[in-house]
Amino acid sequence: MFKNSIWFNLHETESTNSFLHEQLMSEKLPEGSVVTADYQTKGRGQRGSSWQSEAGKNLLMSIVIYPDFLKASEAFVLSKCIALATYDLLADYSNQVQIKWPNDILIEGKKVAGILIENILRGADIYATIAGIGINFNQQMFEGGLNSATSVFINSGVKADTQINAVKLHENIEVYYQMLQQKKIEEIDRLYLTHLYKLNETALFNDANGPFQGKIKGLSPMGLLIVERENGEKHLYDVKEISLVR
Ligand code: BTN
Repeated sequence: MFKNSIWFNLHETESTNSFLHEQLMSEKLPEGSVVTADYQTKGRGQRGSSWQSEAGKNLLMSIVIYPDFLKASEAFVLSKCIALATYDLLADYSNQVQIKWPNDILIEGKKVAGILIENILRGADIYATIAGIGINFNQQMFEGGLNSATSVFINSGVKADTQINAVKLHENIEVYYQMLQQKKIEEIDRLYLTHLYKLNETALFNDANGPFQGKIKGLSPMGLLIVERENGEKHLYDVKEISLVR
């Protein structure tokens, strides 16, 4: 499936996602093509944030796929596949890995990896998806301290080879992408929920009306978060509308 994929291993680039965007403007790369970098000068995170990563310490990787069988409204299932592939990679290092909706990966409740999915649309269809994954492997210090961020090394004491992990992650993504092509959506949904952080646990959230206690009950088919309040009412939230405080 990804057998013709091309690999670009860069020392430095602005952002591996941006690099693939630029490549795709001039040619249609084979599906599964990948770029990795030791360092990004303008690493990008979700919702316009930046992604900081010390040079040569972590995995910074982007992959292009062409999910022409998916409608744009079904795009979230792809995000689940990338999260599950990343989960499986990290589960080799820790048994405390979880997925925080929509697609952060946590070890012992601290963020170890982030995923940035960018869909290039043609009308209502997805022409190409660029999935960027940043995994903290060997970094030991983080800007905001160690309360909310971690790395595989901090957690397990293991120094991992990022390039070997890039190859494994590529294989994992291929496995889940194949499941998606075979329409095994229920299986993907089930696995995602199995690993979901705070599912059915009382947690503190913040929405436009302020903080409140509730429980994550699952996801809508479009990937919206279903949160049940203490009075039993259920609400659906898009990613910009809610944050999980603790
Ligand atoms: C987030 O959690 O905010 C998402 C972070 C995604 C970071 C990765 S690193 C590789 C790829 N290139 C980027 O510029 N961003 C993603």
